[in-house]
Amino acid sequence: MCGIVGIISKHNFSIKNSLLKSLKKLEYRGYDSVGFATKDGTIKKDIGFIDPFIEKTKDTETNLAISHTRWSTHGGITITNAHPHANKEKTIIALHNGIIENYLEIKQDLESAGYLFTTQTDTEIIPHFFDYELNKKKQTMQKAIQEFFKQVHGTFAILLILKNQNILYALKRDSPLVLGIAQDKFIFASDIYAFSDVTNKAIFFEDNEYAIATQEKFTFYDKEGNEIKKNVQEFSWSKEEESKQHYPHHMIKEIKEQPETSNRLIQSFATIQKNRIDKLVQLIRESKSIVFLGCGTSYHASLIGAILLSHQGINCRSNIASEAESFVSYDKETLCIAISQSGETMDVISELKRAKAVGATIASIVNVPYSTIQRFSETSIEILAGQEVCVAATKTFTNQVIVMLELARRFGYKINMQTISEKIKQTITDNEEKIKQLAEELCRKKDIFVLGKGMSYPMAREIALKLKEIDYIHAEGMMAGELKHGTIALIEEGTPVISLVPNDNKDMLSATQEVKARGAKTIIISNLKDKGDIIVPQSDTAEFAIYAGIIGHLLSYYIGVLLNVSIDKPRNLAKSCTVK
Ligand code: AGP
Repeated sequence: MCGIVGIISKHNFSIKNSLLKSLKKLEYRGYDSVGFATKDGTIKKDIGFIDPFIEKTKDTETNLAISHTRWSTHGGITITNAHPHANKEKTIIALHNGIIENYLEIKQDLESAGYLFTTQTDTEIIPHFFDYELNKKKQTMQKAIQEFFKQVHGTFAILLILKNQNILYALKRDSPLVLGIAQDKFIFASDIYAFSDVTNKAIFFEDNEYAIATQEKFTFYDKEGNEIKKNVQEFSWSKEEESKQHYPHHMIKEIKEQPETSNRLIQSFATIQKNRIDKLVQLIRESKSIVFLGCGTSYHASLIGAILLSHQGINCRSNIASEAESFVSYDKETLCIAISQSGETMDVISELKRAKAVGATIASIVNVPYSTIQRFSETSIEILAGQEVCVAATKTFTNQVIVMLELARRFGYKINMQTISEKIKQTITDNEEKIKQLAEELCRKKDIFVLGKGMSYPMAREIALKLKEIDYIHAEGMMAGELKHGTIALIEEGTPVISLVPNDNKDMLSATQEVKARGAKTIIISNLKDKGDIIVPQSDTAEFAIYAGIIGHLLSYYIGVLLNVSIDKPRNLAKSCTVK
């Protein structure tokens, strides 16, 4: 994870209003600590969010600076471990997104050569490595970079500067890196969002490439040092409303936006996204097997897709991307459909690379346009949910499920897509007050179980995930039938069990009775009038998943409010997981 921004400009720019303003846009990538370095060797860093850091930073101007917002991998959340990192003389300064896998070996070698390490990070090897190459081996910077690519294993997007030199070096393998080309400056960043208000011209780095930028020009090279020509892409990025408006948190704003965001997506299937959907349908028809890949909430949406398409007779499965290597083998007749809000999740990207290497076809369903996963795909559906600021996925999950419903519809599944947005609105208005009361009851509980079956099983997982990530409550999303094979031993007097019971599903009703008989406090979510504690609009089982999800999202939100936790930026998390 981590977000990085570096600017080299013909004119001086403000650290606060330019560099850190761009960095702030990448805070969703991690918010453990923040730091920057300027050309004159000044390094400032602190732990915590970017806003308080900006507030206490005394503004300066420079024409070259780099900055970093961290999601810790190696080394605790301390000022010392915050990026940027430098050699002893503070003449070589670097920051990094990724993981250097062989950093211990390199560190040992550098220690033997007399270098002193002061942090627990893998990143600290970078300035020392370059110090060794430049000052001990007397290599040129170009040769040092090529040596770095040879010796270092792992993933990295690195920005590096040398004190008092007007040059910015940028290196990339696996971790995302893009160059923004503005009138008087070059901006290197983890994604285009960092500079979308400054320029719409960008060059995306591919793996094992590096660039050297001066105030006047930039040049790209492959890892052997051969100059390469790159295409400048013009992108359009609609300026999103990022404020919370009158809402106290982005999460509730994003939940309540869903009638509009879902409708925007549904209408796009017959208009601006028709060709993309047609293409995906054609790829599904032509492929022998379909493998959905996703993580977290996106995986839950993909499970619904796999169930729906399997019901339509398509050979389809869904896998958690980080575990797919153990279960899935691909071939030329496989279609991999990656599902990812950010389009940058490293677990998914790694698996796609494995699939592509044996000739599988890649398609995707993403929210963020121009993301790595989208650029990797033969066709890519955009879920058009708009920017999602809260780390917890809500409106994007709903739209992912809607894409699954549309795909299934194209293969014969009967559904009226045009009423979904209205029913989403009804789900929220009918239930919000009731959910606030339920939140009062549940907010002090240590464990909550959520039961589902078939199409509602992914929802059980999704609701449990939200209770964990937002409220820090231990929650288990279970297949109802599995309960009696062990977990039911945990049910005691008053243990909360949320049962997802669409259309009086008999197995779900039995499982609910079984836990009730053992003292559980059951909460039934149903789509039939008078058949549950929380009632969502009438729907079939697949559509029920959307409305049940919204109930779960609202519940986790209102519990979070009562617990007074950091709802939009929960501890230890990041919106985009760009490391394995
Ligand atoms: C969702 O609430 C989570 N924050 C998380 O599980 C997320 O869905 C997961 O990391 C996948 O992200 P992606 O959709 O950007 O690939």
